[in-house]
Amino acid sequence: MNRSARKLDHINHALITGQANSHGFQDLKFVHNSIPEININEISLTSEIGELHLSSPIFINAMTGGGGERTKEINQQLAEVAAETNIGMAVGSQMAALKDQEQRSTYEVVRRIHSKGIIFANLGSEATVDQAKRAIDMLEANAFQLHVNVIQELVMPEGDRDFTKTLTRIEHLVHQLEVPVIVKEVGYGMSKSTVSKLASVGVEAVDVGGFGGTNFSRIENERRQRRLDFFDDWGITTTCSLLEAKDARTTLHVLASGGLQTALDLAKAMALGACAGGFAGHFLKILVEKGQEALITEITELQKDLKMILTALQLHAPQQLKEVPLVISGDTFHWASQRGLD
Ligand code: FNR
Repeated sequence: MNRSARKLDHINHALITGQANSHGFQDLKFVHNSIPEININEISLTSEIGELHLSSPIFINAMTGGGGERTKEINQQLAEVAAETNIGMAVGSQMAALKDQEQRSTYEVVRRIHSKGIIFANLGSEATVDQAKRAIDMLEANAFQLHVNVIQELVMPEGDRDFTKTLTRIEHLVHQLEVPVIVKEVGYGMSKSTVSKLASVGVEAVDVGGFGGTNFSRIENERRQRRLDFFDDWGITTTCSLLEAKDARTTLHVLASGGLQTALDLAKAMALGACAGGFAGHFLKILVEKGQEALITEITELQKDLKMILTALQLHAPQQLKEVPLVISGDTFHWASQRGLD
């Protein structure tokens, strides 16, 4: 099966397998304040990922790898939505466009439409410095997402089996690229030691890509003769990953993704230290099943909802969420206790 057919399969299977809702956000509760002395009009959603300025802490995460006409169409639609709502957007893996000139337009279209927006380039951890530079140039990207996806590769029949020297490659990229490097997972989460290792080689940001939303083991198992079901439950949930990342006590900027669907999920992620949240499967489903207008409405509503939550918590900006106490129960509590996380 060629790359673009495989990636189309990903989109179709992602829509069928859906969002697992086992991200852990249900284990977190804010402490209610009966006297929040604030006017909602005083709230600004502007946010930062390091030096990158965002109009709100919401971005469209990577989904459009592989190239092909359908991928181009989805990139175009997502870019129009991102431009209309003025939010950041990552493209999916650009490897196909590096290997085949004809696929470049699949990705270039994003910068053409979202001309002034924050755009993330994307490649897998096998990328060389030269490939990363070309991927960034293709989009005039503001940052570079490098995805690490060991479990997905293992479940993929044609996936990689050699993961040696990944950290060294990441270190080279960080030193040679002129834009910030965001190392991201794709739904298996990150541990404290992973985050510490990435910080030690100079990575600027991580996207924890936690377990509990889109599940690539389930997606890839749909395409296998002999299933590797034991990987379907593998991974660190998004809430536990954020706690792990926080406890690593690095200066890395932490992004949240993995099952985010609501403004409350995002607010809780930010209370656990994230500076922004990426939405993938949830946005894709709305786009494919209901269309662009519905996705624009969803994003606008998410922004309004986030302001409501900030009002209830008496906060003027989303960045203040990290000072707000959360009560943690259930599996997230047990994970944090056994791992000795703060
Ligand atoms: C993805 N994801 C992804 N990530 C990446 O870094 N490069 C890629 O090419 C892709 N491709 C891709 C295709 C499809 C169809 C989906 C649904 C997802 C992973 C994505 O960015 C995200 O990390 C995970 O999907 C978890 O977030 P959600 O979907 O639970 O919000």
